[in-house]
Amino acid sequence: TTVEWEAESYDMGGHDTYMHKEIHEQVDAVDRVLRGRIDDRFSTVRLGGLNLDAREARGVRRVKILGCGSAYHTGLIGAQLIEELARIPADAEPASEFRYRNPVVDPDTLYIAVSQSGETYDTLAAVQELKRKGARVLGVVNVVGSAIARETDGGVYVHAGPEVCVVSTKCFTNTAVAFALLALHLGRIRDLSVADGKRIIAGLRKLPEQIAEVLRGEEEIKKLAAEYANAKSMMFVGRVRGYPVAREASLKLKEVSYVHAEAYPASELKHGPLALIEPEVPTVAVLPDDDLLEKNRATLEEIKARSGRILAVAHREQEKADHTIVVPRNEVELDPILMGIPLQLLAYHTALALGRDIDKPRNLAKSVTVE
Ligand code: AGP
Repeated sequence: TTVEWEAESYDMGGHDTYMHKEIHEQVDAVDRVLRGRIDDRFSTVRLGGLNLDAREARGVRRVKILGCGSAYHTGLIGAQLIEELARIPADAEPASEFRYRNPVVDPDTLYIAVSQSGETYDTLAAVQELKRKGARVLGVVNVVGSAIARETDGGVYVHAGPEVCVVSTKCFTNTAVAFALLALHLGRIRDLSVADGKRIIAGLRKLPEQIAEVLRGEEEIKKLAAEYANAKSMMFVGRVRGYPVAREASLKLKEVSYVHAEAYPASELKHGPLALIEPEVPTVAVLPDDDLLEKNRATLEEIKARSGRILAVAHREQEKADHTIVVPRNEVELDPILMGIPLQLLAYHTALALGRDIDKPRNLAKSVTVE
């Protein structure tokens, strides 16, 4: 597969930072990861480089996804999508933890390594260890021909285009979309119905326009960032589909703005972190309009009762929240993809308000090629 990177060059294209440019490139980037892959005839997707035939795909009993940082977080989204759409037990783990613990390598498990650069040492080492033990490993990688792309048996290219800012944005989103494609493909080989396949495809096609709609709300998010920028710390919470979004948003905020942030599954708050809640420690709550909305609203009440400020990301205005960023509705399975985008803008504008070096945050490198 060849990638068209001419459209998105290393030029700043009128933006002040690469991060801002790359956030805004997501409309086109998502369009590109979908392009040429949707097969309407069978309500599925075609993934040319997968190297996994239908019989092999049916034999997969588990999926294990490995990556670091944001790549690991997309793995958390990917695992949920694969469980939901293909009904294969799936989970994600930081690549470093996996390789240090002498893991049991199971021949019926499909291993997937995720990486923007394709050069992250911990992820590459996990791939090499798996290969040595005879496992089948796929890659979900952005940089074509990178080490991880070469060492894996096949995979899905993410086609986000070059990502220059140390902080990942468009690659995160595109990787999540790539996982939706893989999950749909595995699902349609197994028990996902034609109707559900059509529904997910229609949802995927809506994404670029919906991302554009989220980005049109940037001014409002900028104001919110100014309001929350002086927080002592920020808490990010979500349940199931909202949880990986909370994790990624918390990482984004801390790496680019240096504001301390923590992410928890919303139900875990009452098991300890509630002790931190006070007006100087606001909470960002990710509340998709799914079957967990009522539970999530109860969490907002718990936070309010401790005089915590709340910024909600939801499909409709939340009464209990001080502010709500409303995102467009799509199919529930795809909620994590859209809900992360306003929080990239929140991290960006917080960093801007605090005068940070946005494209090159202190102490960080774009790819970590050492142990
Ligand atoms: C992302 O914002 C981070 N800079 C970092 O967590 C990154 O995702 C991680 O180092 C993995 O990099 P990779 O995707 O190139 O493997």
